[in-house]
Amino acid sequence: MNGNLIVKNASELVTCSGFTAKKGEEMSDLKIIPDGAVVIKEGVIEAVGPTRDILLELENNGTDLSGFDIIDAKSRAVLPGFVDSHTHFVFSGFRAEEFAWRLRGDSYMDIMNRGGGIVNTVDATRKAAVDELVQLGIKRLDSMLSFGVTTVEGKSGYGLDCDTEIKQLDVMAHLNNIHYVDIAPTFLGAHAVPEAYKGKEDAFIEFMMNDVMPRVAERKLAEFCDIFCEKNVFSVTQSRRLLSKAKELGLKLKLHADEIVQTGGAELAAELEAISADHLLQASEEGIRQMAAAGVVATLLPATAFSLKEPYARGRYMIDSDCAVALATDFNPGSCFTESIPLIFALATLYMDITTEEAITALTINAAAAIDRADTIGSLDVGKHGDLAVLEYPSYKFIPYHIGISTVDKVVKKGNLVFDKEKGGVRYC
Ligand code: NIG
Ligand code: FE
Repeated sequence: MNGNLIVKNASELVTCSGFTAKKGEEMSDLKIIPDGAVVIKEGVIEAVGPTRDILLELENNGTDLSGFDIIDAKSRAVLPGFVDSHTHFVFSGFRAEEFAWRLRGDSYMDIMNRGGGIVNTVDATRKAAVDELVQLGIKRLDSMLSFGVTTVEGKSGYGLDCDTEIKQLDVMAHLNNIHYVDIAPTFLGAHAVPEAYKGKEDAFIEFMMNDVMPRVAERKLAEFCDIFCEKNVFSVTQSRRLLSKAKELGLKLKLHADEIVQTGGAELAAELEAISADHLLQASEEGIRQMAAAGVVATLLPATAFSLKEPYARGRYMIDSDCAVALATDFNPGSCFTESIPLIFALATLYMDITTEEAITALTINAAAAIDRADTIGSLDVGKHGDLAVLEYPSYKFIPYHIGISTVDKVVKKGNLVFDKEKGGVRYC
């Protein structure tokens, strides 16, 4: 495992080339190299191009090929590793009974308003030992990796108190060290109102801003700060106050915005120059226009809309409005208990009028931009991390076509083969 690897003869090398988020028509251009090759040295991409040219170059340079592992990707498409830019994967406890209630007609907010929902997971996560959360985290990251995900964003938010919020972020820091999948951590202390603060939401925001957030920032436990900006949760005014403090402390901003009710979350994301605003099922046209102008990535979570039986976000309209769109799973125990990338492709292409090419851009370079990492991941470009997925099929077009089934055969992280379907799955260090 030295991070030296040559992938050659890929029938389609889908590079998604670029170092910033793609908007509008740019999202359709996957910058494919037919019969392509990638050279990765010590985990970093050193060359990308047609196989013939790359092999000739290596020969002319007198490169000793014995120091490289070789993957012959003949008749297989190769893509950048997927980036899942919105998840809540560190939690204990499940909420299968709530899913059943929702099937019988209760809404997500009904359940939350009568004291269920997120606060149920909070109880279990507060009680969970660090090691339990680590073991659960490993299992979930392994599963994500099998779908071709090489970087994931993860949120706290199942503590709603100082110790548990920090425990969740500590678990993510540890998982980032021991697991192949890289983790971008987000502080989501304002995810719900805990019982003790019911009716005292402003005081809870003050507590998060003044007592918890400075500790998170001081220990550099999170790169982003997020908030559930929603009717009956946190208002636009409360969100502005908390996020402005986060910015002062050096955290980058994200919002759960306009998910169930249109509150002006998209406009707030534009005003605060957030990196991304997420969900956006009810975002206004003006909010979308402002996000496009401010360069805020619109992160759409179709599996959540599907699971909640809500209408999908207006992905087609957003792309046509020149907004950079990313797609993510929103993996969590309540509104969306799935880490399935094939499901995201199915929903985006079949129900949101998003093309396969746009969906791939939305899960690679734009998803990288949604976690402010488009300079280092999300495409197969020289200088980026050698993170890629080899499909079982000759074309990226098979991804949504093989409905609900993962087409990923191998996953490479920083130049090392870390998942191989043929060899029985994830390889452990
Ligand atoms: O993104 N909407 C708020 N947060 C999550 C759900 C978390 C949960 O239900 O546990 C979401 O859908
Ligand atoms: Fe979420």
